[in-house]
Amino acid sequence: MKILVTGGLGYIGSHTVVELQNEGYEVVIIDNCSNSSTGVLNGIAAITGQMPIFENFDLRDKADVIDFFKRHQDIIGVIHFAASKAVGESVADPLLYYENNIATLVYLLQELVKLKTANFIFSSSCTVYGQADELPITENAPVKPAESPYGNTKQIGEEIIQDTCRVNAQLNAISLRYFNPIGAHPSAAIGELPLGVPQNLVPFITQTAAGLRDQLSVFGGDYPTKDGTAIRDYIHVVDLAKAHVVALKRLLAHSNKTNYEFFNVGTGTGSSVLEAIKAFEAVSGKSLPYKIVERREGDVTAAFADTTKANKELGWQSKSTLKDALASAWKWEQKLRSKT
Ligand code: WQD
Repeated sequence: MKILVTGGLGYIGSHTVVELQNEGYEVVIIDNCSNSSTGVLNGIAAITGQMPIFENFDLRDKADVIDFFKRHQDIIGVIHFAASKAVGESVADPLLYYENNIATLVYLLQELVKLKTANFIFSSSCTVYGQADELPITENAPVKPAESPYGNTKQIGEEIIQDTCRVNAQLNAISLRYFNPIGAHPSAAIGELPLGVPQNLVPFITQTAAGLRDQLSVFGGDYPTKDGTAIRDYIHVVDLAKAHVVALKRLLAHSNKTNYEFFNVGTGTGSSVLEAIKAFEAVSGKSLPYKIVERREGDVTAAFADTTKANKELGWQSKSTLKDALASAWKWEQKLRSKT
């Protein structure tokens, strides 16, 4: 059974390819390598013993997308990760985000609706909730006006899929609203490869511990939280990857209740930035230099998931602790440094 993974050389995509192969699926990856490298293929193969089929092209090229589906008529499912995902960059260059995140989704769906049956999983984000009024956040929480073009592309993407499913009964789709993916595969054969200065907390922590950064800036110490720093739901990337396989199986077994569903995917536990730092110091044995500075524009105070729906309907729940995930991130960082 052949599954297309777009953006399969990326951080979450590559970990999902591993879990798909572990479950016996044949995987074909489309990636334009704009934010990844083909070396990730060797990492995947080192873990599973299987080299995925890889096609290097840009989903913005509609003719290439059409040609791809002509050549791969045996695809039974698509997991769509390929997108730009830097909040700050999206503010500076919104059209890059609307073209790369929306046009490509439309081109994929235009091919899927031609098939007798199609199963589609969309990489969405808890960013659609903005600062939720109630915590933990359930799927009933209102989608708030996006605080960035990036977040808007996730909201618009979900609406496009829902509208398309409404008039194409043979298209079955699930959006997974990720909280904060962190960590790396326990083998340290694959992991996060941030380009340039990491925007996200955990890669910045591990690069600081590895001596690549002088100190971590903690964005805000005056939030109305237990220790004044912002709270997030940090989920191990392997747990997140497994959620995609479970969601795919739900669609393939036609056990989805409607042909469009969405689920929060987190641990259900909120951790502050200072708690993440302390947990990292405990698992790494390193003392992390940090300084509390001004809040970062666009950050919410707190976001963590109510995972009841995914637990009950998908039969999925995260297994790893924050310390497990941070330990795997540190092991990966040390592996990267040993190569340079
Ligand atoms: C986490 C916390 C920061 C860096 C974003 C996107 C989300 C998803 C994940 C793509 C916040 C603090 C961070 C630093 C810090 N992206 N922080 N110092 O912003 O919750 O989510 O990335 O899929 O859609 O919105 O993640 O890791 O950037 O920040 O203090 O150097 O760490 O303020 O409280 P975020 P993050």
